[in-house]
Amino acid sequence: SDSLTVAELAKKLNREPSEIIKKLFMLGVMATINQDLDKDAIELIATDYGVEVEEEIKIDTTDLEVYFTEDDEASMIERPSVVTIMGHVDHGKTTLLDSIRNTKVTAGEAGGITQHIGAYQVEENGKKITFLDTPGHAAFTTMRARGAKITDITILVVAADDGVKPQTVEALNHAKAANVPIIVAVNKMDKPTANPDRVMQELTEYGLVPEAWGGETVFVPISALTGEGLDNLLEMILLVGEVEEYKANPNRNAIGTVIEAQLDKGRGSVATLLVQNGTLKIGDPIVVGNTFGRVRAMVSDVGRRVKEAGPSAPVEITGLNDVPQAGDRFVVFDDEKTARQVGEIRSQQAVQAQRSEKARVSLDTLFEHM
Ligand code: GTP
Ligand code: MG
Repeated sequence: SDSLTVAELAKKLNREPSEIIKKLFMLGVMATINQDLDKDAIELIATDYGVEVEEEIKIDTTDLEVYFTEDDEASMIERPSVVTIMGHVDHGKTTLLDSIRNTKVTAGEAGGITQHIGAYQVEENGKKITFLDTPGHAAFTTMRARGAKITDITILVVAADDGVKPQTVEALNHAKAANVPIIVAVNKMDKPTANPDRVMQELTEYGLVPEAWGGETVFVPISALTGEGLDNLLEMILLVGEVEEYKANPNRNAIGTVIEAQLDKGRGSVATLLVQNGTLKIGDPIVVGNTFGRVRAMVSDVGRRVKEAGPSAPVEITGLNDVPQAGDRFVVFDDEKTARQVGEIRSQQAVQAQRSEKARVSLDTLFEHM
């Protein structure tokens, strides 16, 4: 901490408190033994005794959020939009993600597409777009509850033959609460029973009024199955990106969020990260949630080994001492010592929190049975 009491300072200097009080008095400061001394006063006294004051490194271990600082405008450049696809069960989210990936990830890279990581990038008109495969609404809700904003744009998929359903509403409420622009993809247009007008009508009741009807929401008719309308959808995403001007500073330590993580038999802890600011590099000392380590290997969304990953890039890393959780934040530090220090304290705190949680639960159960 920044301050010490007279008694604490005396102890550190190996002197009697009365001696310190006398010294302070000579310097024109009236102090009692329990008085808090600020940094300047401590320095003054210490110097008088010929002792150099070493400042404690101040690290915040409880909340990685404090490292998510703003960069000045001049250091920031355009970054790809990060897009999440949401919608009701069976309305075609996975089919859409897959068909975008299949049609848009260039053939040259296809050799690498064997694994399925929870995020990928495509290129449209020379610009990149990052898609996140949200593992269902529950995970999204947890991330949002933790304040981890990761997505810039939500694609709300609504099947044209089925219309607005409970999870459609849930998804649009999520997006609204997070203040994320929504693009409506009216899917399954290839079906004879497709009724896009009904979808527009129903969504208008929830405040999503189509541009065609004087509103501000973009509706794109698509078929995830045949690929119809996908180019249009991607162009609309780029358009929103241009309007919103998503930016980041590639020249800083990386920060971001865990998309998914698991224990791999051969590779140990494997985490898919979304870099939200800065550039992540091999060898970076990193804290990820309550885990830490050095970035050992990095693999891109197409299964290629890479040495660095810039803003909005999804990347799979190894080198962590344990498995973090989806939604956890990550922060790169300048040196390994600090990363280790922060990581160790955080994991201890997590263990403690878990213990007290368990204690509470068992107490509750006890009361339930009384
Ligand atoms: P959950 O993950 O279970 O919530 O479903 P989902 O939204 O991911 O839907 P999914 O992509 O699994 O599609 C559900 C079914 O609809 C599958 O049988 C798809 O083949 C079909 N489907 C998806 N898109 C289209 C489309 O554009 N046209 C037609 N005809 N069928 C589609
Ligand atoms: Mg699915």
